[in-house]
Amino acid sequence: MTYDKFDPEGQKIQLFTPGPVYVPDWILKEFSKPNDTHRCNPYRELHGMVKKKMQKLLHTKDSDILLWTNSGTGIMEACIRNLIGPDDKAIFFPCGAFGERWANMAEECGKNAVVKQIEWGKGVSPEIVKEELSKDKYAVVFITLNETSTGIMNPIWDIGPIVKEHGALLCVDAVSCMAGIDIDVDKWGIDVVLASSQKCFALPPGLSVSSVSEAAFEKAKTVPNRGSYFDFITMKKKSETNETPSTPAIPHLRALNKMLDHILDEEGPENRYKRHAELAAHVREWAKKQGFEVFSEDGYHSNTVVTIRNNLNINVGLWVKKAIEKGFRFVDGYGDLKGKTFRIAAMGEITMAMLDEFLGVITTLLAEVK
Ligand SMILES: Cc1ncc(COP(=O)(O)O)c(C=O)c1O
Repeated sequence: MTYDKFDPEGQKIQLFTPGPVYVPDWILKEFSKPNDTHRCNPYRELHGMVKKKMQKLLHTKDSDILLWTNSGTGIMEACIRNLIGPDDKAIFFPCGAFGERWANMAEECGKNAVVKQIEWGKGVSPEIVKEELSKDKYAVVFITLNETSTGIMNPIWDIGPIVKEHGALLCVDAVSCMAGIDIDVDKWGIDVVLASSQKCFALPPGLSVSSVSEAAFEKAKTVPNRGSYFDFITMKKKSETNETPSTPAIPHLRALNKMLDHILDEEGPENRYKRHAELAAHVREWAKKQGFEVFSEDGYHSNTVVTIRNNLNINVGLWVKKAIEKGFRFVDGYGDLKGKTFRIAAMGEITMAMLDEFLGVITTLLAEVK
């Protein structure tokens, strides 16, 4: 079997990557079901069900759920275009590649943004946020909840109330952790939280989801040039009748509806979050046993992706290649961390048995690349 060629029957490789991830057959089946159009009652019913279930998952009564036919990056740009007005200043707290990309987007959209850079491998502490917010008046704060490049999980549960005290809106990128950790939108004071389908939801890529607070919608109404496809207000208007302005990814929503039933009623959210935490802890223990160091600082370890320092100075690229030949994929470090770190993710529907099989394979291969 070769794993590095396009297979018309589908790629059979086992993914321990931070997205896209392994998608179970019972989800893939949802994509082969026939659909009606999106301007009819069956679609509106589906859209409404997904919104309700997402509100339950995210613990929000106050925020609307917007469903987007694009990857998470689209919503990241939407937050910038909709929430930063011409006279506003926003602040970003990047602690890795994805946070930096978000901050760069603000500049590309011509917005006034301050960037408080956090050293890669370190988390965004509530103290840093407090200190920065006391220096100036910011309309919006942008933070990555789970930084996929460095394996850092930031304590939004403590940061959110600080942002609220300063009267700013809070936008949170939860692309690589929503449905893998508990997110309490109303309690934490989140105005927008966004995620993509191809991570902890264990769906194929192409759909993204967000909650948007009433305060965020009110703010958006005052911001000119919000664009078209990513306009919160147009999306909100259509959301009121359980529709989207343009054609949505209907099969994807069908699959998300199925996955939400599984999360909420079969596995149970608490069990799901516990499983993710245990899988990540298991990877960290395995890494230490091999003599590696975990890249993320203590107290900020992600529960969904583990970034491991290549302190043994092995050939990471060769190791990854050898694993692919055995039918498993994990990934090198991201951007500047390529070769210096590697990443293992157990997101979505990965079990401890699947993880153990994978770790067994790469442990054997490690001896060949040392
Ligand atoms: C933390 C984080 N933010 C944003 C993105 C971009 O998401 P997407 O590829 O769905 O646009 C990713 C993708 O890996 C991510 O991990």
